[in-house]
Amino acid sequence: MSDPIADAAYASPAIEDARRTGAPGLVELYEEIADCPACGLARTRTQTVPGSGPAPAEVMCIGEAPGAREDEQGLPFVGAAGRFLDELLGDIGMSRETVHIANVVKCRPPGNRDPQPEEIAACQPFLDRQIALVDPLLIVTLGRFSMARWFSGTTISRIHGQPKRFGNRLVVPMFHPAAALRRGDLRTVIHADFARIPALIEEARAIRAEAPSDATDPALAATAVPPPSEQRALL
Ligand code: URA
Repeated sequence: MSDPIADAAYASPAIEDARRTGAPGLVELYEEIADCPACGLARTRTQTVPGSGPAPAEVMCIGEAPGAREDEQGLPFVGAAGRFLDELLGDIGMSRETVHIANVVKCRPPGNRDPQPEEIAACQPFLDRQIALVDPLLIVTLGRFSMARWFSGTTISRIHGQPKRFGNRLVVPMFHPAAALRRGDLRTVIHADFARIPALIEEARAIRAEAPSDATDPALAATAVPPPSEQRALL
């Protein structure tokens, strides 16, 4: 039987991280995500993996979905792909402590299968709120599932490393670090794409300075975020 006092005191590693960074609104968002029953992944997850890092943050990396390690530890990108992401960030003088890291889907798909459209749709309001709180100047999409939100009718092989402006931010699609770990030829490509990030941050700062309040990102504005009660009705 669960102990309500112990349950109330328990905060997942992601919630602790959000408390530590003091990001306003993020703790509440992560707590809502922790209770989310909106798709079948709620029955198979060990815990939700909402994200890590500060909000606001200049750079936000958005991956696909938690894997086994992330499901166990409650934080994104803590397995092999995460270690490679740390290396890629380190090479450009950045660290995960200064970057906000999230996924399109907040619960592990069993056996690390691809997230299904209804799972992505169920998580979309959470990701939209997270992006609004982080308000990044630069979004780095990792892999095709996060890329699909901003870029359609194309492939990652065609557009990786090429930024596009949405509202007053830049979005740059990149290969998923796990794909680069599987294919040696992509390793060089992803290193080269990440090497462009510092210049893209400069470009994005200039865009934000010139358009501080034009936050309209059409990819996000297209989605009205339903209140939590309606999110549950997505079941
Ligand atoms: N792959 C992802 O897309 N996200 C993670 O958190 C880990 C691996």
